[in-house]
Amino acid sequence: MSSNSFQDDTIAERIQVLRPSFIREILKVTRDKDIISFAGGLPNDALFPLEQLKQASLSAFENKGEQLLQYSNTEGDLKLRNWIAQRYQSRNLAITADDILITNGSQQALDLLGKVFLNKNDSVIMENPGYLGALQAFRLYQANFLPIAINHQGMDLDQLRQTLAIHKAKLIYTVPNFQNPTGISYSEENRQAIAQQVAKTDSYLIQDDPYGELRFSGNAKSNFYSLLPQQTILLGSFSKTIAPAFRLGWIVAPQAIMKKLIIAKQAADLHTNSFSQSILAQYFEDNDFDQHLEKLRTHYGQQKTIMEKAIKQYFPNNTQLTNPEGGLFLWCTLDEKISTSKLFQDAIKQQVAFVPGESFYTGAVQKNTMRLNYSCADKQMIEKGIKQLGDVIFNTLK
Ligand SMILES: Cc1ncc(COP(=O)(O)O)c(C=O)c1O
Repeated sequence: MSSNSFQDDTIAERIQVLRPSFIREILKVTRDKDIISFAGGLPNDALFPLEQLKQASLSAFENKGEQLLQYSNTEGDLKLRNWIAQRYQSRNLAITADDILITNGSQQALDLLGKVFLNKNDSVIMENPGYLGALQAFRLYQANFLPIAINHQGMDLDQLRQTLAIHKAKLIYTVPNFQNPTGISYSEENRQAIAQQVAKTDSYLIQDDPYGELRFSGNAKSNFYSLLPQQTILLGSFSKTIAPAFRLGWIVAPQAIMKKLIIAKQAADLHTNSFSQSILAQYFEDNDFDQHLEKLRTHYGQQKTIMEKAIKQYFPNNTQLTNPEGGLFLWCTLDEKISTSKLFQDAIKQQVAFVPGESFYTGAVQKNTMRLNYSCADKQMIEKGIKQLGDVIFNTLK
């Protein structure tokens, strides 16, 4: 058989339905150095704790010797799991190292949850708009998606109630802190109302929380684990707080689920890169992580304010904006006449990029929306890029 002549039916059904992520395609376009890109979702690389990680690597070699390079256990580095557990405990969440499985980023956590929970056509409740990577992960298991609209308070509670009354959803996927893509956080009341509704079902609620530590204003809200401990699965990640290259994330799950996740993880990759786990565990031993977080929060808070001000100055008056209290994203709703997918083509010609909102919807689409990332550009670039984008919007409205 020649390399490109395989029949479609030799390829599994579950992968045939998958398309390359639209965002990855957009990011390719925006790699051009002359383009000011608000499209990515990357942490700012100037804020990586480079020197401290270098030192931690050297110490890990010295302290662990050959063991640093040996196979390890599936659950993950005990020191690292204890460190994560202690952070939860300091917020009054009764989580121990045994409740934690270290994964290859939280993206692998999503894949493992799909493996463990989903048969073909099983229903998963998704935020609409929501995180594309979760959609892609669950799509591989041929999930049936049930979209619930996101508003400024969080999930639309009426829609959730109606959906739960009609469908048996195995999983409810949420990003309640500084959501990707909208930057919205669920209010305290919204969380409590969701927990009350989910408690009446057999569903598991996933709180995917890669941005939770990046709060730069307002007050922390309840973790779903404290509201619904038996039915909550927590996902965490060091990608946005330390560095994504480590590919380190984790799952907190009830013991019965954890046992299945460990089997699925063994089959997938035996264990997460133990080398990077040891380095990170060493980093936490030697450094003040909260001090590092404070630096990130201050920086991202400033970037968000600069972008918000520039949008108010350069975009039409009827532009609506979310008001993120943390994380990396702002969500913009433009005049109804505008399709941001079309606007994207004009914006690229003017050397500025964003992600058109359309890509994030599983249900009813709002074509006049866009996601803007503020973490990577500096003040000058934000002001210049937003002005250029404003000009493109005004030209489209002419
Ligand atoms: C909501 C959400 N979940 C999960 C991930 C994946 O992160 P990780 O690098 O930990 O795999 C991302 C990455 O952007 C994300 O935004």
